[in-house]
Amino acid sequence: MSPTPQADLVIVANRLPVDRVIGPDGSASWRTSPGGLVTALEPVLRANDGAWIGWPGSADDEAFEPFVEDGLSLVPVALSAQEVEEFYEGFSNGTLWPLYHDVIAKPEFHREWWDSYVAVNQRFADRAAEVAAEGATVWVQDYQLQLVPQMLRTQRPDLRIGFYLHIPFPPAELFSQLPWRRQILEGLLGADLIGFQLPGAAANFVRLVRSRVGHKTHRDTIYLPDGRPVKATAFPISIDTAGFEELARSEGVEKRAAEIRDALGNPRRIFLGVDRLDYTKGIHSRLRAFGELVRDGELDVEDAVFVQVATPSRERVEQYRILRDEIELLVGRINGDHGRIGRPAISYMHSSYPREEMAALYRAADVMVVTPFRDGMNLVAKEYVACRFEDDGALVLSEFAGAAQELRQAWLVNPYDIDGMKSALLEAFAADGKETARRMRAMRKTVVANDVSKWAADFLDELEALPEHHDKTVRQ
Ligand code: ADP
Ligand code: G6P
Repeated sequence: MSPTPQADLVIVANRLPVDRVIGPDGSASWRTSPGGLVTALEPVLRANDGAWIGWPGSADDEAFEPFVEDGLSLVPVALSAQEVEEFYEGFSNGTLWPLYHDVIAKPEFHREWWDSYVAVNQRFADRAAEVAAEGATVWVQDYQLQLVPQMLRTQRPDLRIGFYLHIPFPPAELFSQLPWRRQILEGLLGADLIGFQLPGAAANFVRLVRSRVGHKTHRDTIYLPDGRPVKATAFPISIDTAGFEELARSEGVEKRAAEIRDALGNPRRIFLGVDRLDYTKGIHSRLRAFGELVRDGELDVEDAVFVQVATPSRERVEQYRILRDEIELLVGRINGDHGRIGRPAISYMHSSYPREEMAALYRAADVMVVTPFRDGMNLVAKEYVACRFEDDGALVLSEFAGAAQELRQAWLVNPYDIDGMKSALLEAFAADGKETARRMRAMRKTVVANDVSKWAADFLDELEALPEHHDKTVRQ
């Protein structure tokens, strides 16, 4: 067995940045994992030379050794089939995900799921304790691993521990439903610095700690009984803006964007939706709004097409299966009612694509439609802006996406208001070049100035700058 490599920066996330996929011939290969967390953190690890601990995405009892893939140092943590069911699909995505996203779907509370969550969090903490060098910084990510900070601190008080939540942190009224609310709060408080997407989320957390755990707080700082301070504050996440723009400017992407427009019959306007197939994303409502515009003759399929790309996600969770059926039924109905030969109203793909193809889609689209009911940030909105280097293209954006706090010049919509969305889609469809350029220019400034390297530096610098705390209870 090769010795476990030691690192000064350790990222701990449920998923590795790559998934292990087994081909039809039985051979294993690696593919980029889905989701915004991986999009954001992959360039951070690349720039900072650390190790990434995570699950390779398949049910497997046997862990394999740390390895290097495409220059990244990766440390796998295995999950058994039962843990995938109880920890990942169950507690993470059947309890926490819906609870933290405004209960859009009903969270389920099962004690076996919680037990599995505790056991798997302990495994990640143990692995991090082995991999982190003396005095290293460990940066734990997201809702699947909220117990890891405290578990890790118990084993390794020498570490600097940061935690970042990529999804919203709910108001006390919702969080308090969780039977294990206190354990989660205490798990997070093992960190020195806890980052959230938005100031409101950080405030929710601090308020909960005060009322439920009884610790003293002052502004964004919590004081534990041993005197150790924990800071909880907002760091809105972003993307590798320059990287996306460079890709968008490449000849290959420009050519592919033209091909996409051609294949769609060069309509006057292309609308685009790009999401993981998730009930938080508002895909069904947005397609319904578009379908009604076509039905009512406000839009014609000769002039406008809606391209919806949906990445397969959490496919064994029942609510995701139901959602897929509902969306596909709606797409079929709209196309059946309003499409013509060679002119579907909606061009729908249930698939994942390489980054180049995503950039080409962003280049090809005139109106990007991002309408989640609730979203921590939404990186798709920022990726679209990064790719529009000619200051053209319209963004229709839900006011319930974290990104709406920064991208104020988008056509902001309430996704629960179908008529309001229809008006915004029509306005964006008809907007003249001057109007779209004015808005896009301002949004581009924001996304260029606040990229993911700044996000990571802001977080890590703040973590580094916190005064070192020596546990008084240990020293006495
Ligand atoms: P979430 O993290 O909830 O999935 P985000 O919008 O923050 O939502 O991030 C989604 C990420 O996944 C983006 O980087 C986006 O480019 C990528 N993505 C979404 N759909 C696809 C797809 N069909 N193929 C490839 N990448 C995709
Ligand atoms: C969101 C979450 C991530 C998660 C990703 C993909 O971005 O914040 O933690 O990794 O979705 O979801 P999955 O369940 O496939 O990991």
